[in-house]
Amino acid sequence: MFRFFIMFNGMVVSGISAMMWPVLAFVFFVLVQVILIAVSLILLRTLFSSAPFIVTPSRIRMKMFEFADVKPGQKVYDLGCGNGRLIFEAEQKGASAVGIEMNLWIYLLAQYNKKRLGSHGVFIRKDLHKVDLSDADIIFCYLMPWAMRQLAPKFTKELKQGCRIVSHSYQLPGWQIQDQYRDSRSKHHSVFLYVV
Ligand SMILES: C[S@@+](CC[C@H](N)C(=O)[O-])C[C@H]1O[C@@H](n2cnc3c(N)ncnc32)[C@H](O)[C@@H]1O
Repeated sequence: MFRFFIMFNGMVVSGISAMMWPVLAFVFFVLVQVILIAVSLILLRTLFSSAPFIVTPSRIRMKMFEFADVKPGQKVYDLGCGNGRLIFEAEQKGASAVGIEMNLWIYLLAQYNKKRLGSHGVFIRKDLHKVDLSDADIIFCYLMPWAMRQLAPKFTKELKQGCRIVSHSYQLPGWQIQDQYRDSRSKHHSVFLYVV
């Protein structure tokens, strides 16, 4: 009886698997295609955004804060805030800090870090080109040259007198540099200070 059960069971299982193979192969093929398309779309979006997600190294961050000269009560923005490091540091100096991030996953990472560190920093998931910056005292950015080109007229129109813009790596076209730092360890890192 037991031998019969094993034989019968084996026939059913092998019968079903033989029929299912093409279906399983098709489902697998479709899944791989969907994953490939999703990854390509994410990469394309990153490529055409204002900057990919790269964290500013701590020695450059120190220089950015030196140029920014953050004072308690000031309003600080990081345009494309990534994991939120600059926001947490600005908050430690007593500023009211706002991080703008468009990428959902990176925004969620910043929110997670905020919770983890017990921060009161504000993170907004929005396109940085659409944020009203008229109350900014300090603006941090680490963005691609084309984003800086787009931001230059917005800054001219919107920012109040005395606002300090500290840019990592790329210059603000048409604006006069007030101070600059060239990293001795890597030619990719420089910091530029502009004052409205
Ligand atoms: C080079 S990272 C800089 C991260 C952080 N500010 C730092 O210095 O460590 C640029 C960030 O800008 C975000 N970003 C790119 N285009 C954006 C846009 N149009 N609006 C808001 N965030 C954007 C990217 O997702 C990325 O996290």
